Amino acid sequence: MKNRVKRAIIVGIGGHAHAWKKALAIHEDWCLAAIVDTNTDKLENAPSTWGVPETHAYTTMEEAIHFSEEPYDLAIIETPTFSHHVLAMEAIDLGLNVICEKNMACSVDQGRQMVKAAHAHPELCTAIGTQTRYFAQNWTLKKYLLENKDKLEEITSLNLTYLYNWGKTRQGWRRWLKDLFLEDMAPHHLDLIRYLTDMDVVQVKAVNFKPSFSYFKGSSTTYAILALAKPENYDNPDNWIYATYRGDWQKKGELYHRVDMNCVGGEINLLEKAGKKTVSATLFEDPEGFKYQTTEVQNTNDVEFNIKGYTSELYLLEEMSKGINSKGKTQPSTNFKDAFKSFAITQGIIESYETNKAVFLPKYWKNLPI
Ligand SMILES: NC(=O)c1ccc[n+]([C@@H]2O[C@H](COP(=O)([O-])OP(=O)(O)OC[C@H]3O[C@@H](n4cnc5c(N)ncnc54)[C@H](O)[C@@H]3O)[C@@H](O)[C@H]2O)c1
Repeated sequence: MKNRVKRAIIVGIGGHAHAWKKALAIHEDWCLAAIVDTNTDKLENAPSTWGVPETHAYTTMEEAIHFSEEPYDLAIIETPTFSHHVLAMEAIDLGLNVICEKNMACSVDQGRQMVKAAHAHPELCTAIGTQTRYFAQNWTLKKYLLENKDKLEEITSLNLTYLYNWGKTRQGWRRWLKDLFLEDMAPHHLDLIRYLTDMDVVQVKAVNFKPSFSYFKGSSTTYAILALAKPENYDNPDNWIYATYRGDWQKKGELYHRVDMNCVGGEINLLEKAGKKTVSATLFEDPEGFKYQTTEVQNTNDVEFNIKGYTSELYLLEEMSKGINSKGKTQPSTNFKDAFKSFAITQGIIESYETNKAVFLPKYWKNLPI
C-alpha cells in the first residue's frame, strides 16, 4: 500500500531552507504544506518564492496548526542556532515530529532538555540536520570500510582536516556567534567522525581561536585531539583510539577537506579539493605497511544501502518517513538522543579551551536515557 503523503512545515524560510524545500519536492513521501517565519515581509512573498499560498504562511507553528484543516507530520526547524532548543521543544509539545538544524543547541543544559523532551514522547521522531554524514563521498568511505573489514581490520586512528577561507566576516545572525566556526560548520565534521568510526568521542583536548590577522569577531579555527571509544570502553583508555581535527574558516592559500581513516590492514582517504571528491583505499601488503596498493573507490549514492539512491537531506527524510510509519519505534539515526553525543563534542571543545584541560564527555550525558 502506498504511504499517505506526509505534510511538513518549514520553520525559518532562509538560505538553507531552500535545500529542504527541494528535498521535500523530490521525495515521494513528502510535501511542503506550510511555512513559518517571524519575518512577515518574507511571508508576503511566500506564494512566488515558496510555492505555498499566503494562507499557508504563518508566524508561529501554533497558528499553522490552528488554521489548518489537516494535521502536519513534521516541523523542520531552520532558524538561527539560539532558537533551536525552544522551537524544537515547542514542536514536540505540539505533537510534531522534528528535524532540527545543527548545532543542536547553545549549551549542554539546553541539549539535555531536548533529549528529555524526545524521551518523554517516544511516539514522535526526532533528528538533527547533520545531513553531511550522508553525502555520497562520506558514505563511500564508510561503505568501503564495512565491506572490507576482513582486510582493513580495526580502525587505529583518524584525521579530519577542513580548510576554508570565508574572508573577513560572515553576514546575518552568524556575525554574533561567539564560536562561529565551531557552532556552524564543525558540528558536521564532529558528527562525521562518530558516524565513520561507529564510536563516541569520550575525551577532548582542544583550542578554539581566531588567527591574529583575522577580522572575525567570533572564533574561526579549532584544533582538537579526540579520544574515541565504544560505550563498553568509555572508562578504559587502553581501548581508546585517537583522532585529530583541524577545522579553519580563516585559512589562506591552499584549501581542502580531507579524511584519513587508518586501520590495521590499510587506510581509506577522502580528499575534496577544487570541487573534486576522491576516495582512495590502500591495502598494506606487509605487516609494517611499507608495501601497499592504492586504488580509487567509485563514489556511490546508496547511503546505508538504500535502493532509491537517496543522499543528504533526502536520506534524512527517508529515515523520518519510516520512523513516522513505525510510530517512533524506529528513530532516524541522528535522533536527539544520539545527536546529543555529537553536539557534546562542540561543548567539550569550548570547555577544554576555556579550562586548558582534557574534558571527559560522558559526564555531559550522565543520567540521561541514552
Ligand atoms: N545542515 C546544513 O548543511 C546547513 C547549512 C546552512 C545552514 N544550516 C542551519 O540552518 C539554520 C538556518 O541557517 P540559514 O543560513 O538558513 O539562516 P537564514 O538567516 O538564512 O534563515 C533563518 C530564517 O529563520 C527566520 N527566523 C528567525 N527566528 C525565527 C523564529 N523564532 N521563528 C521562525 N522563524 C525564525 C529568519 O527570519 C530567517 O528567515 C541554522 O541553524 C544553520 O546552522 C544548516
